[in-house]
Amino acid sequence: MSIIPFDDRDGTIWLDGEMVPWRDAKTHTLTHGLHYASMVFEGERAYGGTIFKSREHTERLRQSCQYLDFDMPYSDDEFEAVKQQVLAENNITDGYIRAFCWRGSEMMAISAQQTTTHVAVAAWAWPSYFDPETKMKGITLDIAEWKRPSTESAPVHAKAAGLYMICTLSKHKAERNGFNDALMLDYRGYIAEATGANVFFLMDDGKLHTPEADCFLNGITRRTVIDLAREEGLEVIERHMMPEEMAKARECFLTGTAAEVTPVSRIGDYHFTPGNLTKSLVQGYDDLVNGRR
Ligand SMILES: Cc1ncc(COP(=O)(O)O)c(C=O)c1O
Repeated sequence: MSIIPFDDRDGTIWLDGEMVPWRDAKTHTLTHGLHYASMVFEGERAYGGTIFKSREHTERLRQSCQYLDFDMPYSDDEFEAVKQQVLAENNITDGYIRAFCWRGSEMMAISAQQTTTHVAVAAWAWPSYFDPETKMKGITLDIAEWKRPSTESAPVHAKAAGLYMICTLSKHKAERNGFNDALMLDYRGYIAEATGANVFFLMDDGKLHTPEADCFLNGITRRTVIDLAREEGLEVIERHMMPEEMAKARECFLTGTAAEVTPVSRIGDYHFTPGNLTKSLVQGYDDLVNGRR
């Protein structure tokens, strides 16, 4: 598969209030966001021209900025219009939207009180995070060595670039070991999430269990799927889960804007068979985001 670099594509990116040609959407090498990870972002998806839970994503972007001690300089209404404009300019009805904010280059040191905040929005067609054939059979996850940090060690509820350092390292190791992704535990040894998605288990009690999101992103898709499952009459339990408990899980799946609902067939030495519940939630989520529900 040949790679089309992200800086060499046709299209238009919205950058600091202007639509600019894709290849010219640049920032200086001496940018605080690049050197000190003062950067936050959103990943969103549009289905048939409508961005799913767009305002919730904008709200989370604003909160992520606040966690990193800067302000998002656009109102919710302004930003909604920007995202729609980016989709329209790039002729995208079904695709992925990346909205992001970072500190500029006025200061290049730990203290960054005088930096300006930059904001950009890009969008591109992106069908499925995992290739569709692998997806329905279930993907495989290695168990990562890196642990999600505590709320005392990092602003864990921000969708911030710096928090992805251990995700990339974990995913690379998993891929080198022949897995699709990695499951991360938290600093206490509880199951946390995958490198870019939340995780759910159908346990042998017939209930859906998912780790309590107390030190990692409480995903918008996670919350949506909890609601969907409850609507289908399923009991959903959010709690701390130990990795050994996976021996009692019948089905497992990931949730995320990019991953949507992705069945999992294996985590480390634990095996699962994507079954009726997973399939019905894959379908239910697809119906919901496409306005059929
Ligand atoms: C680390 C991490 N956890 C969870 C999620 C799922 O969040 P959401 O459903 O809001 O996309 C994502 C995806 O953005 C993520 O990167």
